[in-house]
Amino acid sequence: MDIVRIGRDDPEAFDSFMDLVGAVRLHDHPENRPPVRRLLQVMATVPSPRFRHEVDVAFVDGRAVAAAKLMVNLGSNAHVASAELIVHPDHRRRGIGSELYGRLAARAVEQGCTILKATTHEQVPDGPRRGTAGRDFLVGRGFSRTLSIVQRRAPVPEEPGSPDTPPAYDLRSWTGAIPEEMLEPIALLDGMINTEMPTGRVKREAETYDVEAIRRQEDWRALTGSDIVQTVAVHRATEDVVANTVVFVPREDPAHVNQAITIVRPDHRGRRLGTAVKRKNLRALKEAHPRARWIWTGNADVNVHMNAVNAEFGFEPVDLRVEYARDL
Ligand SMILES: CC(C)(COP(=O)(O)OP(=O)(O)OC[C@H]1O[C@@H](n2cnc3c(N)ncnc32)[C@H](O)[C@@H]1OP(=O)(O)O)[C@@H](O)C(=O)NCCC(=O)NCCS
Repeated sequence: MDIVRIGRDDPEAFDSFMDLVGAVRLHDHPENRPPVRRLLQVMATVPSPRFRHEVDVAFVDGRAVAAAKLMVNLGSNAHVASAELIVHPDHRRRGIGSELYGRLAARAVEQGCTILKATTHEQVPDGPRRGTAGRDFLVGRGFSRTLSIVQRRAPVPEEPGSPDTPPAYDLRSWTGAIPEEMLEPIALLDGMINTEMPTGRVKREAETYDVEAIRRQEDWRALTGSDIVQTVAVHRATEDVVANTVVFVPREDPAHVNQAITIVRPDHRGRRLGTAVKRKNLRALKEAHPRARWIWTGNADVNVHMNAVNAEFGFEPVDLRVEYARDL
């Protein structure tokens, strides 16, 4: 077995890795959001301002049979690494997962990480069947469960309706780059996300966002071939940006839209701003991307407010992405 780090100029290795990703999805979780090739390729080969991925692929007879992805945060939360391991269904229970895991954990330690996280798919009540190999594998390596994230999808409605905007606020939507005057307020608001959303047993430091970092993140995101649709709520009296929601639309597969951050500043919650920005964003999405069909989102099962907002938009659970963690 040869183990190779995915690099920028090895398209054949990447093709084989994508075949592996497809085979594992078909076997383990065919109902989940389809993988986006260009996003995976850029993640594996170009560090973003916020994280770096290393993807090691194991080849047998020139064919990818397993992969291990290590993600380390750059800047805030650099002590937390995340792992993702996949082994081709025809090559399981032969120690390949263990071997890749050993190398990956050693790399995380070398880079100064003290906590390793990993996720695996589990079943929701009445949802499609999910295997237990991932859980058993992780528990056997000293991981314990820290957080359950419910993966949901909703159809993009024919007519999203009008947002019921509370009178003290204005909503603004755009596609593409964030307007210059919005950068600083959005940096302030988005910086709260790590301390405001449930993160389970592994506590996260507030993220340091600044205007430069947002622009660099936008440049990186542009490489991934995704379009952005974003809506904010501006408080008229103070002109503060107090709510923000973002979706990403992959150009190679615009039917499947990914819901990213939604945040309302703590002192403006309970006024239905979360619902209003999401509804307005849905209208902007329909206008810019008429082929958008499904929106995918993942939220902690304990995030009752976000889940209540999502229920209004017809999101239905598909499965759980359960997060496990261990000290290194
Ligand atoms: C989890 C996964 C990576 C394991 O890969 P693998 O190459 O089969 O793992 P190994 O052969 O090294 O197994 C090591 C141990 O894990 C446990 N394990 C692995 N698969 C298991 C299963 N289906 N049932 C019970 N225990 C299992 C066993 O303790 C096993 O040791 P044993 O075979 O001596 O009993 C693979 O099943 C997979 O790709 N699953 C889908 C993705 C996923 O959930 N990844 C894990 C989290 S990132």
